[in-house]
Amino acid sequence: MRASGAIVAQVLDMIGSEIREGMATLHLDSMAETYIRDHGGVPSFLNYAPKGDPDVAPYPATLCISINEEVVHGVPSNRRIIQEGDIVSVDCGVFKGGYHGDSARTYMIGEVDPKVRQLVEVTRECLERGISQAIAGNHLHDISSAVEEHARSFGFSVIENMVGHGIGTDLHEEPPVPNYGRRKTGIKLREGMALAIEPMIAMGRSRNAISKNGEWVAVTEDGKPSAHFEHTIIVRKDRAEIMTLP
Ligand code: CO
Repeated sequence: MRASGAIVAQVLDMIGSEIREGMATLHLDSMAETYIRDHGGVPSFLNYAPKGDPDVAPYPATLCISINEEVVHGVPSNRRIIQEGDIVSVDCGVFKGGYHGDSARTYMIGEVDPKVRQLVEVTRECLERGISQAIAGNHLHDISSAVEEHARSFGFSVIENMVGHGIGTDLHEEPPVPNYGRRKTGIKLREGMALAIEPMIAMGRSRNAISKNGEWVAVTEDGKPSAHFEHTIIVRKDRAEIMTLP
């Protein structure tokens, strides 16, 4: 998982230095796919088929690139051009050596509205606070409540119908990791458990991310911006070990 996670992190570092206004999202996707294959990995999301939804075609790209009111699963396109003031969430998964790594970051393009900038920073902090609860002996929803409390203290809303997940030989494993919940509830965390923790936080009051029939991209209910950060971590005794670092 360290090997696949390192590639994910290196891709997101590369995206961070290349992303700019005027660029098509598909351009970033091609760069990412080339980098992953050059380093002996396979893109985890490419051809991913959602369980139990025959209306949705297998995922067609390496990255999910979700801009402003798009919460997650934005499909890269030649026609989607990044603009000044956008917030751009880039999610990347890599499979290597039998294991997946999964991580996301939200990039700010040029001058971003101060309130939107705060949304991005708070979402990053939500991930940090969630990770700090991922220690052996805690309960799963200690992670969830740490994320929720921090987001709500700024008046932001938590997207409830999209969640983090266990991860390993499959991209999505048990248990679901919600970004809301009550402390001291949920399964007890044990050393060695691997989780993808991924707060999706919105500026308005949206509690769900909505997709049109047959489409991948999921947007906020009220069209307000949303941010997303994710790391793959391993539960340890004193402090979680982050797999998705360069
Ligand atoms: Co994930």
